[in-house]
Amino acid sequence: MKPLIIAMALVLAAPLPANAQTHPRTPRDLRQLAQQNGIRIGSAVDLTALREEADYRKVLNREFSHVTGENAMKWESVEPERGTYTWEDADALVANARRHDQKVRGHTLVWHNQLPAWLTTGVEQGTIDDAQLRDILRDHITTEVRRYRGKIRAWDVVNEIVDDDGAMRQSIWLTHLGPGYVADAFRWAHRADPHAKLYLNDYNLEWNSAKIETTYNLIKDLKAQGVPIHGIGFQGHLGIQYDYPADWANVMRRFADLGLEVAVTELDVRMVLPVTPEKLATQADYYRRALTDCLSVSACREFTVWGFTDRHSWVPGWFDGEGAACLLDENLAPKPAYQALLAVRRS
Ligand code: G3I
Repeated sequence: MKPLIIAMALVLAAPLPANAQTHPRTPRDLRQLAQQNGIRIGSAVDLTALREEADYRKVLNREFSHVTGENAMKWESVEPERGTYTWEDADALVANARRHDQKVRGHTLVWHNQLPAWLTTGVEQGTIDDAQLRDILRDHITTEVRRYRGKIRAWDVVNEIVDDDGAMRQSIWLTHLGPGYVADAFRWAHRADPHAKLYLNDYNLEWNSAKIETTYNLIKDLKAQGVPIHGIGFQGHLGIQYDYPADWANVMRRFADLGLEVAVTELDVRMVLPVTPEKLATQADYYRRALTDCLSVSACREFTVWGFTDRHSWVPGWFDGEGAACLLDENLAPKPAYQALLAVRRS
């Protein structure tokens, strides 16, 4: 054998250096990071921005392999007048996702917010009675889930149904239909799309033990009754002025042990303005820890941020003096948090 061929054979036969096996090459973007780690990384999508801003569209479709409509699939968006459906935004989200190999989270079927006025007024004024309300909810779930049958990986069937004190949240659903509305909602959704993963989604589940216990027991009961519930969504609206929820991975594991899939569904990390390099570094650490926690739980399949750019974020409109909660700034320049995510690996 010629010396060159012998040398090549030796190189090919040699084992890879240890770090080449445990540390795959640095990903070029979040999509590749997700792929290397066997999950999907997603973002909430602002449909006006998707339509009107080419740079927003480009970054969304390059970086993310999962999407959630920030508002597009909520009840007030899809049925603003009774019986008049406006699917344009939801359809556009799903069509864009199909073109860019993005899975879709449907958000959300049963919530106490962003209900159409015809519904809340009808209930208040008694023109919609309890039996009618149940039919309306069943029809809403059936119509929306059926429309996107086979195109939605996971639905947030019920959203924020437990209050911070651990009681079931007061809402028109609990008041007029009783607690059984939760099981009904999952059953109706399952009938309309038997393959979609059906989730309970909530905030503060990362750390609030009253909320965690009630939710845990509720899901255990539902599963014991054979209700088709498949996943738990941790919204993850964090702020650097509060401690990072250090027990989050254990909480995820507890729910996973009930046989559930886990997802981080709405992560953002806000700060009191103005932005400083120190605050950005802390924010980066929170994002890094959140992804590390998700990757440490094998049932955690999706890691979704609630908007990817500070140009379009719900935070400044809701928390006075706070903002800068996203991975990219208003000009779509990556912040330290983005770079921190790229360095995370499944341990
Ligand atoms: O659509 C109207 C528009 O017609 C009107 O001109 C404009 C004037 O304010 O308001 C528009 O509605 C706004 C809507 O977003 C759509 O942009 C509402 O005012 C605004 O309150 C609403 O906020 C959304 C919020 O949910 C409502 O509860 C945020 O964008 C959205 O990010 C936020 O998302 C929620 C999740 O669904 C559930 N978890 C918490 C998360 C953050 O609050």
